[in-house]
Amino acid sequence: MPIVSMRQILDEAAKGGYGVGAFNVNNMEQIQAIIEAASETNSPVVIQASRGARAYSNDRFLYHLLLAANELYPNVPFAMHQDHGNSFETCKSAIDMGFTSVMMDGSLKEDGKTPNTFEGNVEVTRRVVEYAHPRGVTVEGEIGVLGGVEDGHGAGGSGLEHLTDPDQAVEFAERTGLDALALAIGTSHGAYKFSRKPDGSVLKMDLLIRIHSMLPHTHLVMHGSSSVPKDLQDIVNQYGGKLKPTWGVPVEEIQLGIKNGVRKINVDTDSRLAITGAIRKVFTESPEKFDPRDYLKPAREAMKKVVALRMTEFGQAGHGKDYKAIPLAEMAKGYADGRLDTRPSLAAAR
Ligand code: G3H
Ligand code: 13P
Ligand code: ZN
Repeated sequence: MPIVSMRQILDEAAKGGYGVGAFNVNNMEQIQAIIEAASETNSPVVIQASRGARAYSNDRFLYHLLLAANELYPNVPFAMHQDHGNSFETCKSAIDMGFTSVMMDGSLKEDGKTPNTFEGNVEVTRRVVEYAHPRGVTVEGEIGVLGGVEDGHGAGGSGLEHLTDPDQAVEFAERTGLDALALAIGTSHGAYKFSRKPDGSVLKMDLLIRIHSMLPHTHLVMHGSSSVPKDLQDIVNQYGGKLKPTWGVPVEEIQLGIKNGVRKINVDTDSRLAITGAIRKVFTESPEKFDPRDYLKPAREAMKKVVALRMTEFGQAGHGKDYKAIPLAEMAKGYADGRLDTRPSLAAAR
């Protein structure tokens, strides 16, 4: 099957009541880890590249590696997604290259640091929707601002400073016509999300549940959703790493989200920890080795293992063969004739 739109995957996930992990990639080994995990667990999946990843790899390399993944694993339905696009131009360049989905993160200004105004966010996100939908490409937006900074992207802070306002979320969905909406509910990017196991005072699942009840036809997205498991932290530290004690988003909270409209779950840090732990282990135990394959192979295996586990926990495992790819041209028709319109006023009337 061809590389599919993210909207098709999220619509299927909504029908089946499961969530879909969206995993970040920067290189060949990470793409192989994800596609092999998806193939072995029979999962649909979202493979995403940040602006930093596109710059690091030279995005033509990433693009062709993803085409290779599609050629070698034609049974795995996956979407090729731009993570945290900072401007119309970033999203347009991804779409023009062949990405089937983009995130316009208008919660921040183009510098990727300063919180945007609501009107500024609506305007740039709507512009991306107007470019993407006639091409059958999916659009994710964000309302509210996550905590933390990754690779220069992010407003910093704890994640509680700019929580999503539910009324604004509804107005945002109505005025932009986007497909999926990322919420700020207390999570942050990176390894340092919470200083203890999070409870409702810092991880606002109640807010997410409220927004889903007000916006039942919009696919919700949880960013900053690595679980930062203790066993992966321990491997890094056992072999010379210096991670400080930290907590991520517990899988059971993500599963509660999935019961309440969350269809896309963004995970990068867990993959990074798995890779780093495996490489540190080889360097420590076999310092005489210098062939990159000696440490990249276990690194790829370690990432594959954590990705496959998340696929099972999010419920996407077993659903890879459920559906036939809808070509982007067909998706474009669905947007044009209103079938794929999820604006709250129209979706409620249907
Ligand atoms: O949004 C955060 C992802 O973990 C991507 O991070 O911008 O360092 O590639 P990055
Ligand atoms: P983590 O840092 O929790 O893995 O979040 C990744 C993310 O949200 C990518 O957009
Ligand atoms: Zn994110």
